[in-house]
Order: sequence, then C-alpha cells, then structure tokens
Amino acid sequence: AENTLADIVSHAKEYGFVFPSSEIYDGLAAVYDYGPNGVELKNNLKQLWWKAMTQLNQNVVGIDAAIFMHPLTWKASGHVDGFSDPMIDNLDSKKRYRADVLLEDKAAEYENAGDKDRADALLAEMGRLLTAEDLAGVKQLILDEKIMCPVSKTCNWTDVRQFNLMFSTQVGAVADDSSKIYLRPETAQGIFVNFLNVQKSARQKVPFGIAQIGKAFRNEIVARQFIFRMREFEQMEMQFFVRPGTEGEWYTTWKETRRRWHEALGLPADKLRFHDHDKLAHYAKAAVDIEYEFPFGFKEIEGIHSRSDFDLTQHQNLSRKKQQYFDNDINPETGKPYGNYVPYVVETSVGADRLFLATLCQAYQEETITEGEGEKQQTKTRKLLRLHPAVAPIKAAIFPLVKKDGLPDKANEIYNSLRHDFRLVVEEKDSIGTRYTRQDLIGTPFCIAVDHQTLEDNTVTVRHRDSREQTRMPISELRSYIGEAVSL
Ligand code: GAP
Repeated sequence: AENTLADIVSHAKEYGFVFPSSEIYDGLAAVYDYGPNGVELKNNLKQLWWKAMTQLNQNVVGIDAAIFMHPLTWKASGHVDGFSDPMIDNLDSKKRYRADVLLEDKAAEYENAGDKDRADALLAEMGRLLTAEDLAGVKQLILDEKIMCPVSKTCNWTDVRQFNLMFSTQVGAVADDSSKIYLRPETAQGIFVNFLNVQKSARQKVPFGIAQIGKAFRNEIVARQFIFRMREFEQMEMQFFVRPGTEGEWYTTWKETRRRWHEALGLPADKLRFHDHDKLAHYAKAAVDIEYEFPFGFKEIEGIHSRSDFDLTQHQNLSRKKQQYFDNDINPETGKPYGNYVPYVVETSVGADRLFLATLCQAYQEETITEGEGEKQQTKTRKLLRLHPAVAPIKAAIFPLVKKDGLPDKANEIYNSLRHDFRLVVEEKDSIGTRYTRQDLIGTPFCIAVDHQTLEDNTVTVRHRDSREQTRMPISELRSYIGEAVSL
C-alpha cells in the first residue's frame, strides 16, 4: 500500500522528527518545530548541500546574511510590487483560498480522471489570465468550473485580489512608514547586495557563485501539506554569476548537477522530474523545477532560475552604486578584454524543509517480514526509515546483549572510541529485538551488538537496517566501515 502523508506526519511526530509549533496552544498554522531526530537529519542535509556547493567548487563561496535588510532591497527586487498570490474567499465556508491552487486542484482532478487534455487546457488558460493580470477572468474561470459549487447552491465567491506574501514589522520604537521593514521572503537578496563585497574579498573571477543557507518567511494564503508549504522555512540558495551570453550553458550545467545530487542522496530517478515553468516569476528569464513525487503528487523541491542581470541592475538603480565587474579575459571576437558588465545570474534554490519531507517520504516504508523458525515463526509488519546513512540522525546504536558481565562497559568503551566521528547511542534497555525496532523507526543504518564473545576476541555483530543481515567484525574495523557507508 502507498504511504499517505498522514502516515508520515504521525511518524514524524511520534519519533521526534517534526512537531507542530507551540502545540500546547493548538499549534500555529504552517509553522513547525524540528525535534531531536529531525534536527539531526535536517543538519545533515544542510551540511551535505553546503559541502556539495562550497567544498567541491573552489569558485563557490558562502555567506550568512541577516534576515532583516534595508527596505529598498525589496523595492528593487520587485517583491514589494510583485510578490503576491491571487486570493479568493468563499463566503459560504468563510475560508480563504489561492485562486491558482483551486484551479490546479481542479486540473489534477481532470488528470486523475484520465482527461489530460482538459487538465492542460485549464492550466494554460489559468496561466494566460494570471500573466495578463486578469483577476476578473480568474474568478470567472473558478465559477465556470463550478469549483465548490453544489448543484443546489450558487458559488458564493468574492473577487480575486492580489495578496502580498511578505511579513512586515517595525524597526525601533516609532511605528511610522519609514521604519517598516520586511522579513526576507527569499535568501537570494542577501547574496545580491553582497555581490561586490564577496567578489573582492574572496578574490573571485566570473564565473563564480555565492551560497547561503537561511530562514525565509512568506505569509502563505493556504497552509497545507505539512512542511511542504510553511510560513517560516529554510532555503539553500546559490547565485552563480556569469558573463552575459554564457547563462544558457550554466543553466543546463546546474540543472543536471542539482538533479544528480538529489539522486545521490537517495531520491530515485523515476520519482524526480524536471518541470519547465510556463508562468515565470517576475525576475526570471527561464526557470525549471526539480519535482519529486510526494504522496500527494509530483511537486517542486528545487528551482533553477536564469535571472539575467535583473537583480543586480535593479540594486544598481536604487542604491546608485555600480554593480559591475571588470572582466579582463580576452574576447576572441574583438581581441580586447570583455571589460565592464553587470553579470548574469543562474540561481539554484532548494527548500531545506521540502527536501527533508521528500527524504522522509522516500525513506518511510512498511514491510511484511517473517521471523523465527518452525512453531515460533510469525509474520509481522516492520516500519522503518531507509535513509541514506549520510543523512540518518544516528549512524549506529550499540547494544550490550545483557546488562551485566561487563558488557555495558564494553559498549561504552566502543561508544567513547567512536563518538568524535559519528553520532551514536548506547541502549541497554529491553530485548534486542525491541531495540532493533526502535532504531529501524528512526533510520539508524547499523546496530552493533556486544556479547560475551566480544570480551574474548574484540569482535561485534553488526546488524544492517535494510537487509536485517548480521556481520561479525573486529571493533577496530568499525570506524572505517561506518565511515565508508556515511560518506556520499
Ligand atoms: N530565490 C528564488 C526563490 O525563492 P522559489 O521557487 O520561490 O524561488 C525556492 O523558492 C524553493 O524554496 C522552493 O523550491 C521550495 O523548496 C522552497 N520554498 C518556497 N516557498 C516555501 C514554503 N512556503 N515552504 C517551504 N518551502 C518553500
């Protein structure tokens, strides 16, 4: 049976991955907290991304910019005027919706019923109306499609309005307009405004990239699908600055590089696809999503955008500070240096939370297994997380077979010898079977059993999460054995 999102949500809560925010007050919509296992998994994903970007590319360097930025940043970036979603209220249910999401759901309904042509036609019409800012037309489409419109009732919708997604707050004590600032809706702008600071201080030459991981905030109209669409979330973004005219090649390169990365982390090729944008964001010249097949369908986890010189030029105009780079490479056509220009940008932008959700959905499995021999044989359901060892919260659990005869001391000795390299736990409580089950549920790839033979010959039994097979090996080999498995 296919796992549902509800299975994932309850597993995430029960085993300390994700909790609803401020749950004792009944939570806050579209805001979540990561628990002890969740934070480890998320940190692993972030570290692997950081390494793939910065450590593996000499021409990509990192920054950590502030969440608050000068308010003109968001004027320049287009977010003050253009970062909005079409919102519509249903007067019967008194619920608020995103007009485009209602129509997308309707299209999915057609597609699921086998009418792909009708689904595509609906999406194309919606795209056309939204691009033309024809909000009355969007409302008409919702009425024509009879969305949420029981036969006996009229569809009681308000007009469609544009709703800006940025959160604002005030700096300092005076609440006038001049002190109004925004929580960043993307981390990218912290990179753009630091373009020259980084280029000069890190002595980088175009092409080069700047990577950043950090929180972003959007007042999403509809909060749904767990941590897929949050109001506070984390982005991992990289802006790659290139010579104008070369952006097409870099767009293709990064598109492929990023897809391969997701596959290396354990998202299978047949559950990933590219989806080209028909409707481009205000800054984009070309854009593609990397989509993963969640239990609720193929959805975006990462965006690759060719942003031209839009952002740097906008910042140049509003700040009146040149955002140019002098390229002293020789242009073969003129025989002279390329000279001054505002670089073009290819961006890769992945949500840490969405990647986390995709990882969890992919790893979560329920399988039927047979245990024991003869009379004692029984079949049961085993729930487990088949996480790539590189992202698993805990790399190995060490189990003394019994709580006596010096076995716990031996287990702790092994723990102490490896804790600087890997996150490990020692568990003494309950039967060994129960202990295996507990580790399967949180995705620990290895369980190390310490028994009486260990005291004699310094070997242990390593039990593998996925196959449940057991291997006997010397303690001295554990470091390289686990180390190899957890490297990507
Ligand atoms: N700088 C470009 C940018 O922000 P985006 O497509 O709006 O582009 C990039 O966002 C990524 O950020 C998405 O692919 C998604 O993974 C993540 N993301 C965006 N909005 C999100 C939300 N409300 N909750 C969780 N993740 C989100």
